[in-house]
Amino acid sequence: MYGVIDVGTTGVKLSIYDKNLKKTHYEKTVIGFEKISQQHIEQNSLQIANAVKGFVKKAREKGVKKIGICTYRASILAWRNDGTPITNIITWIDGRGKEVVERLSPTAKLLKSLSRSLNIILSPDSPAILIRWVYDNVPRLIEEVKTGKAYVWTLDSYILYILTGKFLADATNATLTGLIHPRKLSEIDIVFELLKLPKITPEITGNIHSFGSFEDVEVSACIADQQAASVGFGVLGKGEVQSTHGTGSFVETVTEKLAIPTSGLVPIIVLKIDDEKTYGLEGFIRSTGSTLEWLMKIGLFKDYSEAESLLKKLEKKVLLVPSLGGFRIPYLRDLRGIILGLGLDTSKSDILSGLALGVSLHIATILNTMKKYIGRFREPLFSGGGYSRSSAFLQTLADITGMQVARPVDVEVSSFGVAKLLALSDGKLSKKDLKEKPDIEKIFSPNLHHIDRSVMLDAYSKLLGVISRCLKGQSLKKIF
Ligand SMILES: Nc1ncnc2c1ncn2[C@@H]1O[C@H](COP(=O)(O)OP(=O)(O)OP(=O)(O)O)[C@@H](O)[C@H]1O
Ligand SMILES: [Mg+2]
Repeated sequence: MYGVIDVGTTGVKLSIYDKNLKKTHYEKTVIGFEKISQQHIEQNSLQIANAVKGFVKKAREKGVKKIGICTYRASILAWRNDGTPITNIITWIDGRGKEVVERLSPTAKLLKSLSRSLNIILSPDSPAILIRWVYDNVPRLIEEVKTGKAYVWTLDSYILYILTGKFLADATNATLTGLIHPRKLSEIDIVFELLKLPKITPEITGNIHSFGSFEDVEVSACIADQQAASVGFGVLGKGEVQSTHGTGSFVETVTEKLAIPTSGLVPIIVLKIDDEKTYGLEGFIRSTGSTLEWLMKIGLFKDYSEAESLLKKLEKKVLLVPSLGGFRIPYLRDLRGIILGLGLDTSKSDILSGLALGVSLHIATILNTMKKYIGRFREPLFSGGGYSRSSAFLQTLADITGMQVARPVDVEVSSFGVAKLLALSDGKLSKKDLKEKPDIEKIFSPNLHHIDRSVMLDAYSKLLGVISRCLKGQSLKKIF
């Protein structure tokens, strides 16, 4: 039996699989945000640590001897060497990195403008930038880190630390920090120098590794959650593509070699096993499922089945631009959500359709940007995560992207990907087996004429262009 703990932004999940990778147990503990304001979005580190430890114990009681972990990514905290957290988790949706970027030295700003890689690394949502923020704001932390009394790194590394007592990080997570080189897996000296960070970094491992153990349960796999979804889908061949719709929506595709894009896409390691690395590209929207949750919180609908029945009457009258924390593609850091097309006859279902449309248009924008590096995608576009339970959303996604969209029987694909890695570590699967696709429950075929689709995409791109010009002219910044 394999136990998988997926630390997602909406909650920590435990899944248990039998040796044939059939799921035998699932539960989720919802973790809210500890602090939430326009710029700061934090989660309670201890609450997550306790949820993870509780799930490992539970898995052991159910007979699990081996577990794997995946976590949400690019999120930072500081902790003491006894495992006690010093800070909350500064999550990947947080916006405070902007102030650090504005304060960068003139040399750093100049180098950022000259180098594609540095431009990505020294951007507001980069963990390297958030780590600088932590040092700037926690008194004497730098001395504690230099003397081995404390650590500052990412959430996955913290989870491994509290379970095994070792300072480790896997390659998929570590390279997203901007401090570890994706090809060499060594420290990127210039970033440490420009940000004046102490060069104290975890041991970088592959995704399958003997990480250590917690109460006699071995930790044998660790991987970033979106990359875990790529493994779960078997999206490991060039041009294959998947999108996972949880708190936010992530699109990942596989490239032949490491690509350094110019356009807001993020180069990633999808998987590292032994010395073999699979590279890819990623684009994302910060707030998709969370926008749906927000619509529920403010009373638009009471549960997801009501939302889905409202969405059955899908009409493309309203557009909800899902930019609750800015966009990277196109780069619109200051943009906040917009609802267009309101009238006195606007209904709840129009707003929900507007969200499905906005997310789909933006994913199509990301896919079109990726195509410049990939050429053609290999269909279908696999889709998982909580929001992909909505058939109406996936139908809209198929219409707007013009691609077949495939939903697996189990949408918790990140956990399944980790289970596959555990089976590989046990010799129950081969590397080739990892590329197998999961059981598909439904394929959504595009129903929109390609001319209508390109008109809509063109109009969306022009809309973002107009907003971008307004934001540059500062007039909209005051409103949003
Ligand atoms: N039945 C449903 N229909 C539509 N959307 C749903 C449904 N159930 C959950 N969701 C949406 O799915 C989201 C959570 O998805 P998921 O559990 O995949 O996220 P997560 O793993 O916690 O987050 P992330 O992977 O982004 O860190 C919620 O924000 C919610 O809006
Ligand atoms: Mg998730």
